Amino acid sequence: MSIQFDEKSRIFLLMTQNSTYQIKVDEYGFLLHLYYGKKTKQNAEYALQFVDRGFSGNPYDVGDNRTYSMDILPQEFPYRGSGDYRNTSLVLENANGSTGCSLRYVSHEIRSGKYSLPGLPAVYANADEADTLEIVLNDNVSGAEVILLYGVLPKYDVITRSTLIKNNSNDSFFVTKAASACLDFLTGDFDVISFYGRHTMERNFERTHVGHNAFTIGSRRGTSSHQYNPMMILADTTATEDIGNCYAMSLLYSGGFEGSVEKDQINQIRMIMGMQPEQLRYPVKHGDTFVIPEVILSYSHEGFNHLSYNLHQCIRHHVCRGEYKTSVRPVLINSWETSYFDIDANNLCRLAKEAAQLGIDMLVMDDGWFGKRDDDNSGLGDWYVNKEKLGMPLCELIDTVNELGMKFGIWFEPEMVSEDSELYSRHPEWAMTIPGRQPVRGRNQLVLDFSRREVVDAVYKQMCEVLDHNNIEYIKWDMNRSICDVYSHTTENQGRVLYDYVLGLYDFLERLHINYPHILVEGCSGGGGRFDAGMLYYTPQIWCSDNTDAIDRLFIQYGTSFGYPISSAASHVSAIPNHQTGRSTSLETRGIVSMSGAFGYELDLTKLSDEEKEEIRKQISDYKELAPLIMDGRYYRLTNPFTDEVAAWQYVSKDKKEILFNAVRLANHGNMTPIFVKLKGLEKGAVYKEEKTGDLYPADILMEIGMPLKIELIQYQSYQMKFIKE
Ligand code: GLA
Repeated sequence: MSIQFDEKSRIFLLMTQNSTYQIKVDEYGFLLHLYYGKKTKQNAEYALQFVDRGFSGNPYDVGDNRTYSMDILPQEFPYRGSGDYRNTSLVLENANGSTGCSLRYVSHEIRSGKYSLPGLPAVYANADEADTLEIVLNDNVSGAEVILLYGVLPKYDVITRSTLIKNNSNDSFFVTKAASACLDFLTGDFDVISFYGRHTMERNFERTHVGHNAFTIGSRRGTSSHQYNPMMILADTTATEDIGNCYAMSLLYSGGFEGSVEKDQINQIRMIMGMQPEQLRYPVKHGDTFVIPEVILSYSHEGFNHLSYNLHQCIRHHVCRGEYKTSVRPVLINSWETSYFDIDANNLCRLAKEAAQLGIDMLVMDDGWFGKRDDDNSGLGDWYVNKEKLGMPLCELIDTVNELGMKFGIWFEPEMVSEDSELYSRHPEWAMTIPGRQPVRGRNQLVLDFSRREVVDAVYKQMCEVLDHNNIEYIKWDMNRSICDVYSHTTENQGRVLYDYVLGLYDFLERLHINYPHILVEGCSGGGGRFDAGMLYYTPQIWCSDNTDAIDRLFIQYGTSFGYPISSAASHVSAIPNHQTGRSTSLETRGIVSMSGAFGYELDLTKLSDEEKEEIRKQISDYKELAPLIMDGRYYRLTNPFTDEVAAWQYVSKDKKEILFNAVRLANHGNMTPIFVKLKGLEKGAVYKEEKTGDLYPADILMEIGMPLKIELIQYQSYQMKFIKE
């Protein structure tokens, strides 16, 4: 059992392969956080410091002991009202408007297996892979029962956290702030690593020193957003890829979020991850339970590489689900950058024919096939095939594609409605708009009120009509704007709408998961605007970015790799000059970059030269051979493209027999100085043979001096080498 409770000291010990987490129930029933870090069974309680600090108040029942203050002590689940003035996990608004609260320990339960959450995604595991700790706290006055849930997955150094807030009283209360994980550190010099961005430039790596200020990231957009990713890392200032303590928090929630790090008045550090508090005022009535989304915590004392490895393994094997979870995904050709809204069945057939000859597995018909949809100003909400535009019935098109030996996939944007649509003219009240106000438009479209079940039902029904009559094997689920006019016509409590919206989204996706188990669903939100572990529970891959430029993708995929497995990031080779940047890179470079993900193409194959087609044929056969190593191998970042002149990364098979080395040179200069890239994770003392040349390389030297990159006068030159252990 990875969880123990010592009755005498009243300390919980949660242990993974390399980490320990300690919680104490103190003499007043408060829950104090004692330790999270390198594995130990020893008790960290002595480190608690009781000092009288001015203006740090004391709970009533500690009497005249002024050294006992929640403002100073490390908390397990801080909440407003305890006298802790730092950032909190919970703010509970009582029926009388006050935010008083005093949560005390009631009971606990330890059991094998991993808890699950009603209506929300959660890490799952077999009984022998995980244990659960449930700690029940109670606030006598409001009747709030707070159940802290911990899931321990020892193998991946992962501890998950979630919280249930139950109302056992007759009065309602409101949850106005809800975070699942808080980590308090008594001491430490830390940096916080976060991933900021924008549409077509997501998840840029940023490292910030933690000082005496509140560092906050988040999204107020109703989705996890392009602007910040709901994953952040707290690390020793000296931590690197290979050394140092680091802690990750990754939220399994696709709505707005807030992550923060704060250094307090006596240099203690607090890290919190949870829901976005603005626009949250969730009513919890008698007998109701509010579920705070889950957070994955992971710790590594061996730097970022090991931390990413933990997250990759946990998400790939214990978050992603379905038939495609660990299988190599079909190589696809997507129509978007090929023909945009100009969807025509005959052209698609021509594209499919070409694709089949190159070894591509699936044709994806992107936006433009339904309702009245010739551009992005109309049609959303009308999910029936526009036969006239398509030029033939959909089933006929799919038959042709299937006869070529290919699968067929299709694009949907179920959460949206265009004002110029039949759905909107029938049900304007299904769009989220505020009575008496003009809505804020995004891409000239409105958001459907997915907090209402009948809206979800109606769109689901339309989608089923298409899926049930056509052999569709893939769906691209898109979401192309941020939510602004938060209002549902059927509730008095608008503070619940954004959360209920996310529950509606998950409900829809869960129906697809259960009723269409053979369909691969790819998530998308203008590329990577909703790239989070919550979505990965329903969609094992997500379109990483609307930016398909190979060089920009190096940066985007670098940032993504910190928190998410390679198999989750869809990546396509597109045309040059690139449609987002105007940059030209070789087909080889575009191929190597895209292969580090769920691979595909997004360009008009019929316009390629014979040489290019031959190169693509080779790329696809290479990918099919390399994909198991790319998806299941251990991933190493070898450089940082934000600071180095080369982007390099590597995969190592579990038995260390196979190595795939990849690099792209980012800068060219006159009289170039040599570039060596050090490999990682090879078997010490072994000799590796490079497949293409047959050259032999000593592993120790590859790791100490590195691989010299042969420089030719080519811009963005790329390198891919496969090594086999002799
Ligand atoms: C979003 C997606 C694109 C494409 C378009 C279609 O921007 O990210 O890949 O599907 O929508 O409108």
